[in-house]
Amino acid sequence: MGIEGKVVAVTGAGSGIGAATAELLAARGARLVLAGRRADRLREVAARIEGDVVWQVTDVRRRADLRALVALAVERFGRLDVLVGNAGVATVAPLGDLTDEQIDDMIDVNLRGVLNGITAALPVFRRQGGGHFVQTVSTSGLRIVPGQTVYAGVKNAVRTISEGLRQEVGASIRVTAVSPGMTRTEFVGDRPPHGSPTALATWEQVQRVAIDPGAIARAIAFAVEQPEDVDVNEIVVRPSAQG
Ligand SMILES: NC(=O)c1ccc[n+]([C@@H]2O[C@H](COP(=O)([O-])OP(=O)(O)OC[C@H]3O[C@@H](n4cnc5c(N)ncnc54)[C@H](OP(=O)(O)O)[C@@H]3O)[C@@H](O)[C@H]2O)c1
Repeated sequence: MGIEGKVVAVTGAGSGIGAATAELLAARGARLVLAGRRADRLREVAARIEGDVVWQVTDVRRRADLRALVALAVERFGRLDVLVGNAGVATVAPLGDLTDEQIDDMIDVNLRGVLNGITAALPVFRRQGGGHFVQTVSTSGLRIVPGQTVYAGVKNAVRTISEGLRQEVGASIRVTAVSPGMTRTEFVGDRPPHGSPTALATWEQVQRVAIDPGAIARAIAFAVEQPEDVDVNEIVVRPSAQG
């Protein structure tokens, strides 16, 4: 099938890896459904895309928003081929220094948000007899370091869910977990964080070694473009200089 003509919904599409993925897949002929909370950012990304694109303000923490997003894809393009569950947030600090709100946010966006996407799209994929879930996880879950305990734990929950889902859904539905290493996006912020020395050290390392989000977009495109009988389950893309 390749990428041409596929209908791809991307959460967190207004910036960073999501925006780069949307733009790359659109350039290769996909029809895009962009999701995120900031309308202005989605509008900007949509304006850069030549070809079929729609966007909808979506908070992945809300199940109803994901159902509405999937419904939009089906209404506008007649189907949904790929859901990229990419929206994510992180606070880098030791667990004991995180506020309840920061912990809830990492769970609600990174874990519940992905589950909300899966449960919204799965009935459509089943009805169509095919579909592809792509989840953005993280190398934080592969090399566990202080300061990223909750974030890594939540991302690894998504990794586990991806593998379980893969086994449950059978041959017609594909599941890919992409683990980016340090990537130059708004995620890490453009100013040094105050307070946590761990957060500062991470921020400084990111400034030194981070790679362009296009590198992650190319990895996602690789998974999407494979023939239907090839399921790329795990991809890890780190900066060469990341320890
Ligand atoms: N950058 C890195 O070094 C790195 C490394 C490993 C993994 N990752 C993962 O890569 C993914 C993309 O991050 P990024 O690096 O591209 O950073 P980013 O530019 O900050 O992108 C994150 C996106 O998620 C969206 N988002 C946050 N909360 C949301 C919510 N409740 N509902 C809908 N959308 C929401 C944000 O848009 P709105 O605020 O407009 O909603 C934003 O566009 C994340 O899952 C992150 O965990 C990043």
